[in-house]
Amino acid sequence: MTVTEQAAPARTHASTLTATDVVVEFPVGRGQKVHAVSGVSLEVPPGTTLGILGESGCGKSTIGRALIQLPPPDSGSVRLGDLELTELGSRDLRRARARMQIIMQDPVSALNPRRKVKDLVWEGRSIWGHDGETPKDVLVDDMLRSVGLDPDAVRDKHPHELSGGQCQRVCIARALMMDPEVLICDEPVSSLDVSVQAQILNLLETSARSFGLSMVFIAHDVSVVKNISDQVMVMYLGKACEVVPSDEMHRTSVHPYTRLLLASIPGEPQDHPHAQQVSVELPSPLDPPSGCRFRTRCPIATDRCAAEEPRMREIAPGHTVACHHVAVGADE
Ligand SMILES: Nc1ncnc2c1ncn2[C@@H]1O[C@H](COP(=O)(O)OP(=O)(O)OP(=O)(O)O)[C@@H](O)[C@H]1O
Ligand code: SF4
Ligand SMILES: [Mg+2]
Repeated sequence: MTVTEQAAPARTHASTLTATDVVVEFPVGRGQKVHAVSGVSLEVPPGTTLGILGESGCGKSTIGRALIQLPPPDSGSVRLGDLELTELGSRDLRRARARMQIIMQDPVSALNPRRKVKDLVWEGRSIWGHDGETPKDVLVDDMLRSVGLDPDAVRDKHPHELSGGQCQRVCIARALMMDPEVLICDEPVSSLDVSVQAQILNLLETSARSFGLSMVFIAHDVSVVKNISDQVMVMYLGKACEVVPSDEMHRTSVHPYTRLLLASIPGEPQDHPHAQQVSVELPSPLDPPSGCRFRTRCPIATDRCAAEEPRMREIAPGHTVACHHVAVGADE
């Protein structure tokens, strides 16, 4: 069963999600702090999907959570349309968060084990109130069908009676029930069986299209991110390195770290001069390298890379990169 047009509310109010110079740091004692996200900017126009890619610990979840202000960033701006989320009081922030739903990696622990599926799916609407004429039970059943679940089989079950894939479908139903504008998916399939992963990815893709959603899709698997996204942002140690249209990623990406990620896909040709394998040790986020944070692993680093931080600049329409040694027009 797939998402139906009937289940999709007509969206007339989608907004662009914009983050500018977002910084998130975690104090860890003795005056030290983890530089988890250090000045990341991004833009997700209505109805598009931005993929966020990078190794474990590079700050993907932190930026995803900062977008919904969990926690709010230490500095920087996050806007949903004209609304500056970082300046909202708690009540307005809760209301704004309802417009941005998050799907987590572990669907079982994301669901309250004591509640039945029908109540889990309705939870957000029960908090915010339901002023439509259609009864709750009808809306819940419609939504369960929309995410490929049989309402008769699951509505009265608890999460532990469902498979991981079914639980993730319930999480998606819960999120969609709030009629969000943006869905933030943080590794939504990495805890699922391989056989179920493609089904859930397909569901997210069709849901986004049918419900007119924008998505931020976080994962460390290059092919998963590339397939579902319009644009891909590659992060390294709390910084954005490159933003590139996903369908051109293999051909046009130029940042040495992006090339390294692409070269690490099994079966991919290692045909780019920047794709040589280098030391795989990730520097400490407590004390990131000066200048370009990738320099300790970069095969083409120079003295300038240690002295000066590369800024993001556009090298072609929709393609930005932070590297001193990439020329404008490099991907043409
Ligand atoms: N609450 C916290 N307190 C201290 N450090 C944290 C906290 N949350 C995250 N970090 C650190 O911030 C950095 C970024 O973490 P984050 O979870 O965003 O990375 P990630 O890219 O999502 O990694 P993964 O792919 O493993 O999920 C890591 O060094 C992590 O250890
Ligand atoms: S700025 Fe220097 S170290 Fe950083 S990616 Fe470019 S060449 Fe490598
Ligand atoms: Mg994460």
